[in-house]
Amino acid sequence: MKAVVNEEFGPPEVLKLKEVDKPIPKEKEIQIRIHATSVGFGDLAARNFTYKIFHMPAPLYPPMKFVFGLRKPKKTILGAEFSGIVEDTGRDVTLFKKGDEVFGYVGDKFGCYAEYMCMAQDGSVALKPPNMSHAEAATIPYGGIIAHELLRKMKIQPNQKILINGASGGLGSAAVQLAKHHFGAEVTGVCGTPRIEFVKSLGADKVIDYMLEDFTRSGETYDIIFDILNKSSFGRSKNSLVKNGRYILASFGMRQILTMLRTKLIGSKKLICSMALKEDIVPVKELADAGTLKAIIDKSFPLEQAAEAHKYVEDGHKKGHIVITLDHL
Ligand SMILES: NC(=O)c1ccc[n+]([C@@H]2O[C@H](COP(=O)([O-])OP(=O)(O)OC[C@H]3O[C@@H](n4cnc5c(N)ncnc54)[C@H](OP(=O)(O)O)[C@@H]3O)[C@@H](O)[C@H]2O)c1
Repeated sequence: MKAVVNEEFGPPEVLKLKEVDKPIPKEKEIQIRIHATSVGFGDLAARNFTYKIFHMPAPLYPPMKFVFGLRKPKKTILGAEFSGIVEDTGRDVTLFKKGDEVFGYVGDKFGCYAEYMCMAQDGSVALKPPNMSHAEAATIPYGGIIAHELLRKMKIQPNQKILINGASGGLGSAAVQLAKHHFGAEVTGVCGTPRIEFVKSLGADKVIDYMLEDFTRSGETYDIIFDILNKSSFGRSKNSLVKNGRYILASFGMRQILTMLRTKLIGSKKLICSMALKEDIVPVKELADAGTLKAIIDKSFPLEQAAEAHKYVEDGHKKGHIVITLDHL
């Protein structure tokens, strides 16, 4: 089968189209013929896994570097989310059958930049929302699963004010839609100039351009600030939180964990470093089926142009989701 393989760490050019062995499903696995996948933060990070790109506590870096590869990548076929058709099933598979249209998330196992991929039938895989194309469905799982899990833990009340810093990214764009249309919050999104219209189209009530305005100086206050890349600090953002307000971080280091412990004991405003530990696609499928969670595609690239797709994202052009298509192969 054809796959895009990365045998060394480095720039987008390390992604090369190759012929590799087709995977065979184990007893409880399904084999999926991939029709579309995407370019996400995880793909860029795994392609060139360095400390700079690793947004988590320093003690976790050595084991993660071991997992991703010390000198050469261990994850040689990227792609964390997909949409496709079940082509074959292992002997003990009961949940899916050949011909089912499915979409899902394999996270840091990767492997979707390939014509075929095998995964456990009880993994993060579900029937594709019928109202979505493969290209659209392939952009939903990562952001949807992680944003839903983190927002669910925040226990947002209808009409509460939430600011999402990093609203145009994979996680943030799903968080804006879910906070607005599922949890009923009043949403302010923060992103860079080229992506203002994209974030508005997701349903944000207000969009702030971080290149022109610092939200911490506007005098506006929020019940929740959800900072995805840890770009504004808790200290600087405290005046932008209401009394008992919460500042939630999706990316954090040891310093933020220590601040979280301190704010647990002292003060009404809390810093929370939050991890999505469950990868549950069921609520995401329901929200996509209902039209609450939409895919807004900026550009599609055929598999053989995966390097160009990565470059397009890294050069800052992306205004929505970037899809890699395989249905022409
Ligand atoms: N806690 C968890 O369980 C969990 C799970 C998965 C991922 N993560 C973390 O989530 C992060 C990746 O999120 P993602 O996939 O959404 O990334 P992404 O697609 O690369 O998006 C990054 C976002 O950050 C924005 N941004 C960049 N510079 C900014 C600045 N100076 N001020 C404000 N916003 C800025 C970008 O805006 P523009 O593009 O418009 O400039 C974009 O909206 C990683 O750090 C990863 O470790 C956490």
